[in-house]
Amino acid sequence: MEGCARCPLRAGAHRVVLGEGDPHAGIMFIGEGPGAEEDRQGRPFVGPAGQLLTRMIEAIGLTREEVYIANVVKCRPPGNRTPAPEEAAACLPFLRAQVALIRPKIIVLLGSTAGRYTLSPDFRVTRDRGVWTERKGVWMIATYHPSALLRDENYKPAAWRDFKAIRAKWREIQGA
Ligand code: URA
Repeated sequence: MEGCARCPLRAGAHRVVLGEGDPHAGIMFIGEGPGAEEDRQGRPFVGPAGQLLTRMIEAIGLTREEVYIANVVKCRPPGNRTPAPEEAAACLPFLRAQVALIRPKIIVLLGSTAGRYTLSPDFRVTRDRGVWTERKGVWMIATYHPSALLRDENYKPAAWRDFKAIRAKWREIQGA
């Protein structure tokens, strides 16, 4: 992937940020794309939004090591802009391969970009978050992107409800 030429993003990024975590994780988190710190380190969600995500994962009794964390695009869009539809489309085969290999039981979509390219093209996080969808035996739910929570504290109660719903679903699946 280091030599990827499927879209222009690779040329402007230092590192390809594929994902990290347990390759057999039951829960997978999908964000939008690497930011500045992720691009520096080659790891997903390690900047300010990532630190918040880590705390939220820990707040529901899990660790980063036991989940899997990936993004829609694997290379940082310049200035952290939203990936263009062609860029997302070019990179989606890698995300699909990750889902196929990891075979999570729960997929958590962080923000509108993740929802749009996995659930529905007209996905809107404010309208569509917090609702479970089952696809081929995988439970999917969207919530606010942690960057949105850093920008606007008012989203935090709903995001926390979503994380509690994730904890409940995970317990239910494990108990089944
Ligand atoms: N935001 C994302 O969507 N992904 C990251 O990896 C970091 C910040």
